[in-house]
Amino acid sequence: MSVIFSTENAIILDHEAWISKTYKDYLTSQVKDSKTISHGRNFEHLFNLRSPFMMDGHAEKIAKRMTENLNCSLPPKKKRRKKGTSNMQNARECTELFHVMEVFAILRDTFAFKTHFNHIASPEDYRNNNRLIRDVRKRFTEISLDNLQVSVNGSTKDKCEFVSLNGRTYILPPDSDYICDDVADILTHTSGRKYDVILMDPPWQNKYVHRRNKNHGKHHGYETMNVSDILKIPVPELLSYDGLLVVWCTNNENHLRELMEGLRNWHVHVIATWYWIKVTKAGEPVTSLSSASYGKRSYERILLARRDGQRNHNVIIPDGLLLCSIPSGIHSHKPPLADVLQAFQVPQSSCLELFARSLVPGWTCYGLEVLKLQDSFLFSA
Ligand SMILES: C[S@@+](CC[C@H](N)C(=O)[O-])C[C@H]1O[C@@H](n2cnc3c(N)ncnc32)[C@H](O)[C@@H]1O
Repeated sequence: MSVIFSTENAIILDHEAWISKTYKDYLTSQVKDSKTISHGRNFEHLFNLRSPFMMDGHAEKIAKRMTENLNCSLPPKKKRRKKGTSNMQNARECTELFHVMEVFAILRDTFAFKTHFNHIASPEDYRNNNRLIRDVRKRFTEISLDNLQVSVNGSTKDKCEFVSLNGRTYILPPDSDYICDDVADILTHTSGRKYDVILMDPPWQNKYVHRRNKNHGKHHGYETMNVSDILKIPVPELLSYDGLLVVWCTNNENHLRELMEGLRNWHVHVIATWYWIKVTKAGEPVTSLSSASYGKRSYERILLARRDGQRNHNVIIPDGLLLCSIPSGIHSHKPPLADVLQAFQVPQSSCLELFARSLVPGWTCYGLEVLKLQDSFLFSA
């Protein structure tokens, strides 16, 4: 289980533990050479987030202050404000931020939170500025491929399996289905099947991915889609009558507005909004929570929607739920939600993840990079 603690309003997730458990049979069958024992596996390093995200210079200043026994917080850098924008863009954003801060403050006070996020960041941690994560991410980017460039699909049975494609080996979890293709062609693969849950984390256009694609090539970022193309996904044909649609949405207000408008064409309405707050091993938000720089908010939003006219009273989905976990060092890598949905007894006999980059036992995962994070590199030392 990735859920390690829950209250009415918040859940603590452990993504790294979920990976270790999902791939247990593969990981234990590997020869435990001294390198693996002393170095740890690459996916473990990616979760070793010891201090918040910041520039090296800023981190060095904090380390110096800590060493000199001074208050380690530095005055926030003055940001040039874009013309025509205010710090708090609108009342909705203020209310959302206030809600996240309030629920997080209560969660932070719990014994479970203090026990789980028990790291105490040292000056050395700040000085290192998560160098290990950055090194692993860099090596992974260098070896991983652009889209597999093949339309490929497959499935596994009750054990982890391997597949080799284009010179890379991928470790697949038990009981999973995958389809590597363009979402525009999804109906050619699903043969009229309907899903209880459709989860998607669309490739929204954003400056960070655009910059990486432009400067370093697609394998440093990924293909993006504009909102009107995302809204062409044939959700009504794929979602079962009682089904739940779960969509990760960026903090970009335009994306949110266009998505909310477009949901009408999918004949669904939003029943709940959840938030995912990303914290370090010490339980610090990865960027300042109160910061008004919205592009860098330390939390992301998840919309949950049901078909219009559908009222499934057996499954109560709470609104405003806060999910809290240490993020992986891979850009845009989201924590698994299957166990969270399970906690609310959402039926999951057939589940589909669109735009997936990794597989989930019991689910069909679909996307141009569906095997990317299954690369054996991430499971090796
Ligand atoms: C935001 S990422 C998903 C990240 C994923 N949720 C994770 O946790 O790793 C979006 C993914 O959609 C893929 N993608 C972009 N355009 C696509 C398309 N037309 N059809 C299918 N997948 C697409 C990208 O290559 C990228 O892997």
